[in-house]
Amino acid sequence: MANPFSPARLQALAQTFGSPLWVYDAATIRARIAALKSFDTIRFAQKACSNTHILRLMREQGVQVDAVSRGEILRALAAGYRAGADGEIVFTADLLDRETLATVVEHRVPVNAGSIDMLGQLGAVSPGHPVWLRINPGFGHGHSNKTNTGGEHSKHGIWHSDLGAALDAIARHGLKLVGLHMHIGSGVDYGHLSQVCGAMVHLVRQAKAAGHDLHAISAGGGLSIPYREGDPSIDAAHYFGLWDMARQEAQSILGHALALEIEPGRYLVAESGVLLSEVRATKQAGANHFVLVDAGFNELMRPAMYGSFHAMSVIAADGRQLEPRASVVAGPLCESGDVFTQEDGGVVVPRELGEARVGDLLVIHDTGAYGASMSSNYNSRPLIAEVLVDGEAERLIRRRQTVEELLALEA
Ligand code: LLP
Repeated sequence: MANPFSPARLQALAQTFGSPLWVYDAATIRARIAALKSFDTIRFAQKACSNTHILRLMREQGVQVDAVSRGEILRALAAGYRAGADGEIVFTADLLDRETLATVVEHRVPVNAGSIDMLGQLGAVSPGHPVWLRINPGFGHGHSNKTNTGGEHSKHGIWHSDLGAALDAIARHGLKLVGLHMHIGSGVDYGHLSQVCGAMVHLVRQAKAAGHDLHAISAGGGLSIPYREGDPSIDAAHYFGLWDMARQEAQSILGHALALEIEPGRYLVAESGVLLSEVRATKQAGANHFVLVDAGFNELMRPAMYGSFHAMSVIAADGRQLEPRASVVAGPLCESGDVFTQEDGGVVVPRELGEARVGDLLVIHDTGAYGASMSSNYNSRPLIAEVLVDGEAERLIRRRQTVEELLALEA
């Protein structure tokens, strides 16, 4: 759990911008980028936090970007990223819908293909288009089954034994191979990492044997962050060291230099962000003490979707000393699963927090990744505002949506 903000500052931000509110700290993001500087390319998986102001901040630090939809390509362009074969955007997916195909062709955005069908569809309309191959090595790992992206249950990537067929398709359709990519899931540990590195070297050897050349390999994302006190932190130097060894082996197979990319989402932004909410009611239900806040799972979906743990803290409105109290923290949605203190499977787990009263702030930590970007309008709740803090400066980087805007879509 990281907290780059003082309680007084968070109170002032809630006063100024209202509640609930996403707040991000620019310095934390810059520090995480700096830790990965040994990689030739840091490609931000913007699905974790796709606000264009955050994307701009990343780009100022030399970070490139991954896009997984037409919307994310247009976001990257809006944030100033250069498109093109030697540009700063790569599109990663397992299929190309027609509109997205037209967009990647128009801007010549390199495509990281997760299926062989994509290669044929792209080659038919865009000769010489740069492509990566995303390979499913046959194993994966994730903080939850829903974030494991390898193995035979996963829809992601080209199955490892189809590498030869994918390379044939590249040659047949006149595409240009840039590199090989693997992302086996979120929350990768070092054991799985050495397995992935080994698999990558094996794939490079196969590609070379089949008469193909490539210029880059991507380590994918998946770097974990310490959500719970005592969780280990990623040692970025060690992480780089393992991949650098794989890169060197691959270079000796190919006989020339290879660029090494990494593609994190969570690692760069999770600890930069908090979700501020206001306590609006408290009540007792049998043994359980409920603290009801004005943010719901339409804002932060991770606990309801994966049983994810997020540290929480209470800031007393009147500055009083907080007595500990086991609390179930829940939101305003008309749905029983709208509980922030739960484990996978929906088991409600009371958490020892400072005793909250109506009017206090409830802060949910480490929400900079997969927070705002996974929000929805469920229960007809407008998207909430986002604020970026940079030293003394505080900037509204997304205003609050209105119900009128939602209704306008249906007019
Ligand atoms: N690259 C690819 C191809 C990916 O599919 C992903 C995540 C990443 C990179 C970045 O993974 P990260 O470094 O953030 O772990 N909503 C879930 C995470 C889903 C991740 C999907 N793909 C969560 O809240 O934990």
